[in-house]
Amino acid sequence: MANLRISLAAAVIQAVLFTDSEALWCNCTTAQCEKTGSQCETDGACMASTSFIEGQEQHIRICITRDDLVPPGQPFYCRSAEGLLNIHCCYTNYCNSIDLKVPSGREGGDSSGGTWGLVELVAVIAGPLFLLCLLLLVGMFLYQYHQRAYNHRQRLEVEDPSCDHLYMAKDRTLQDLIYDLSTSGSGSGLPLFVQRTVARTIVLQEIIGKGRFGEVWRGRWRGGDVAVKIFSSREERSWFREAEIYQTIMLRHENILGFIAADNKDNGTWTQLWLVSDFHEHGSLFDYLNRYSVTTEGMIKLALSAASGLAHLHMEILGTQGKPGIAHRDLKSKNILVKKNCTCAIADLGLAVRHESATDTIDIAPNQRVGTKRYMAPEVLDETINMRHFDSFKCADIYALGLVYWEIARRCNSGGIHEEYQLPYYDLVPPDPSIEEMRKVVCDQKLRPNIPNWWQSYEALRVMGKIMRECWYANGAARLTALRVKKTLSQLSIQEDIKV
Ligand SMILES: *[C@@H]1O[C@H](CO)[C@@H](O)[C@H](O)[C@H]1NC(C)=O
Repeated sequence: MANLRISLAAAVIQAVLFTDSEALWCNCTTAQCEKTGSQCETDGACMASTSFIEGQEQHIRICITRDDLVPPGQPFYCRSAEGLLNIHCCYTNYCNSIDLKVPSGREGGDSSGGTWGLVELVAVIAGPLFLLCLLLLVGMFLYQYHQRAYNHRQRLEVEDPSCDHLYMAKDRTLQDLIYDLSTSGSGSGLPLFVQRTVARTIVLQEIIGKGRFGEVWRGRWRGGDVAVKIFSSREERSWFREAEIYQTIMLRHENILGFIAADNKDNGTWTQLWLVSDFHEHGSLFDYLNRYSVTTEGMIKLALSAASGLAHLHMEILGTQGKPGIAHRDLKSKNILVKKNCTCAIADLGLAVRHESATDTIDIAPNQRVGTKRYMAPEVLDETINMRHFDSFKCADIYALGLVYWEIARRCNSGGIHEEYQLPYYDLVPPDPSIEEMRKVVCDQKLRPNIPNWWQSYEALRVMGKIMRECWYANGAARLTALRVKKTLSQLSIQEDIKV
């Protein structure tokens, strides 16, 4: 590229120099020039060259016309060819009067018999190799330097307050920012450069969780709390995938964890991958149920809000402002957060898949068994799930939702009784069950978590128990849909006179 530019420039200079100037005189060695005193006149260039012809060193001097100076900048006539060595083109009078040196090694070729000594041989082989290595090194260095400079420039652009003043007025809170954006258009979140600016001005406070991907921190941004999920560098794909899912158009919903920003910070030695989201001080539903029992009202609010979130996730909205259907694939009480108003927000969308309805395909090749073994639907455990069919993944989510409902319902305080918190299948499998252990219980023995008889005496618990059973069918297609669960629970909440 650079070469081309230089040769083009040379051609332009040549053209400018010689368009209107007088003729150029050169020394000439050809027979025709004997009449003119061994010189010739040209509008192009003078050329000198030395070559061996039959073992004799010969100096050749000729004129080259402008028309022959092709291609511009690197005319064929001025390049070395077989048998001709040391070609020199020049553009001043008699400039080709010089005697070019013949490269050593060829000189007196007869006496040396054409065989090279060991030293020359080594030089000929090692020389270019060494040069090649040197070039490679320089190239690599230049590339890295360029990348650094580029990153640096990007960072500067990002942090330049002039380009984000629109969004980043000092007195605006995150809620304002996100509200503006979700009502004004894209619906998928903050623009990327604002995400970076936000992420890079967060001050981490304390670690609040650890997972297979990395850590979760509480951070402060402009006086508000945010949650920061920090992925280890080798989890870059998970980071990217989760950020991608969260930025699905129109995903925002009060019962889905509010996404704020994704950022990859390169601190020189490693890349820090951040996902920034709303912070909910109650933590996960798992933590919450371990700590507190819930009232009937509390149970219905948690269950209904979780169903609303899942229904929104599953639902495909058509149109330009639409959203694809999304299946979660790792629904469990640890992946659902409890908000201040005691409703749920579904989180951890890293394993989710999206449905592309135009082609009826799934946006990534889903691997067979991801997610948490304890919450895996029977068809996932025995690998009979039809992975080409998007609805299969929704049905597997519903099975997991049923298990979460069981965890909530056990903690419901009805008539002064409630049970201690337990994970589903706590009485049937060991603490960290293998797929095989789960499969035996769920597929072979067809067991499900126990629904106590006394639940029948309380309307809310009776309805919850019925929903659970209908979420747990072995046949995925027979299970309720999230929308159906949501409607049933809405009715129940009206019946129980609960404001949600
Ligand atoms: C080239 O031409 C100039 C002018 O005619 C002359 O003085 C000079 O000796 C020539 N050089 C050679 C090497 O013939």
